[in-house]
Amino acid sequence: MNILVVGGGGREHAIITALSKSPRVDKIFAAPGNGGISALAECFPVKATDLDGILELAKKLNPDYVFVAPDDPLVMGMVDKLNEAGFRTFGPKANAAILEGSKVFSKALMKKYGIPTAGYETFTDAEKAIEYIRQQNSYPAVIKCDGLALGKGVIIAKDFEEAKAAVNSMLLDGKFGKSGSEIVIEEFMTGPEVTVLAFTDGKTVKPMISSMDHKRANDNDEGLNTGGMGTIAPNPCYTDAFKAECMEKIFKPTIAAMQAEGRPFKGCLYFGLMLTPNGAKVVEYNCRFGDPETQVVLPLLETDLVDIMEAVWEEKLDALDIKWSDRSCACVVIASGGYPEKYVTGKEISGLDEKGQSPLAYVYHAGTKLENGKYYTAGGRVLGVTATGDDLRSALDKAYKAVDSITFENAHFRRDIGRRALGAL
Ligand code: AMP
Ligand code: GLY
Repeated sequence: MNILVVGGGGREHAIITALSKSPRVDKIFAAPGNGGISALAECFPVKATDLDGILELAKKLNPDYVFVAPDDPLVMGMVDKLNEAGFRTFGPKANAAILEGSKVFSKALMKKYGIPTAGYETFTDAEKAIEYIRQQNSYPAVIKCDGLALGKGVIIAKDFEEAKAAVNSMLLDGKFGKSGSEIVIEEFMTGPEVTVLAFTDGKTVKPMISSMDHKRANDNDEGLNTGGMGTIAPNPCYTDAFKAECMEKIFKPTIAAMQAEGRPFKGCLYFGLMLTPNGAKVVEYNCRFGDPETQVVLPLLETDLVDIMEAVWEEKLDALDIKWSDRSCACVVIASGGYPEKYVTGKEISGLDEKGQSPLAYVYHAGTKLENGKYYTAGGRVLGVTATGDDLRSALDKAYKAVDSITFENAHFRRDIGRRALGAL
């Protein structure tokens, strides 16, 4: 089997690593891929958001499956386009990817089907939104733009002034373009956060191992929100009781709701959950594997990912038994200094072998470039240094030993990935 994977970050490197372990796979292609991915897949310089370019590439390569990993092409309808041209795919169609593409849609779906989430109101008018915030008089206030915004479209405002500025930046100043032309203002929730990725064929849902992201740039959850500075799996806050509660109250009802709406979701559905004092609630849905959650979840998968991809496509997921390791996994992201704001790229990376790997851990490449046998930084998040262990502590120890052996000028990483999870054990 030949597979084309669309995307070029650490998540795609982890997906390609899992696919490459399958005895059923002959060749993997990636578009655009990256330096580290090129050790496992033939990379083609086509952007993940270039729908026509990817379709042309698929026609040239004629893969058995196209695995669309990032949010933007899914929301833009890449899967629809590929299916119309006769290609088998992994990933939802646009009418299901809207679960991530529009928060107004996903909040309304949850309200209609009684899926637990934060209470909310939606607004297109800045004055009305600000009046609502004044009346609620409850802080922090959570203000979200409707559409995709690179993870930056959520503002937790600590007082009225901050909330007003957030509303104005979205609705009046157009800071997020069309994504911010409608906003959601919702109740602030508290409790540990858990990510649960789930395979679904539109009818059956099979949750994967849970994980915990670390979104802030600096230790002790300080600094700006990023795409994710590290992850651990499984998440110790996610007890068996929460697992059962989420299955009955959130996972199954979401899949059934999408089916009932004529929008069957096929692919990987990301449940961003908060374990509040009043039970588990949905913070957000994403229509795809998380990054860097995938880097700690897929190494624990014992079933062939190609078998799962096929079962999802053929809508036979109910008949497949998916097996997981009982080990733990940790991923520490090494980023370019300054990320998520301004940073410099093109720095030579030391500590990697010719395949971009380390003898001490798996190194998933997020933003690297391979030139004349050397690896250079090419993005904000550069590497996701990942290790498995019998328990979380040993996985973290291994990952940090490897992190200490890899560096580049102005490299930045958090020292406390997994610390909160260790405290919860
Ligand atoms: P989102 O992009 O919707 O996942 O939001 C980004 C982050 O903002 C989440 O991971 C939470 O940490 C935080 N957040 C979002 N919504 C809420 C909420 N209603 N209450 C508290 N924190 C929230
Ligand atoms: N790690 C969060 C995300 O993938 O959206």
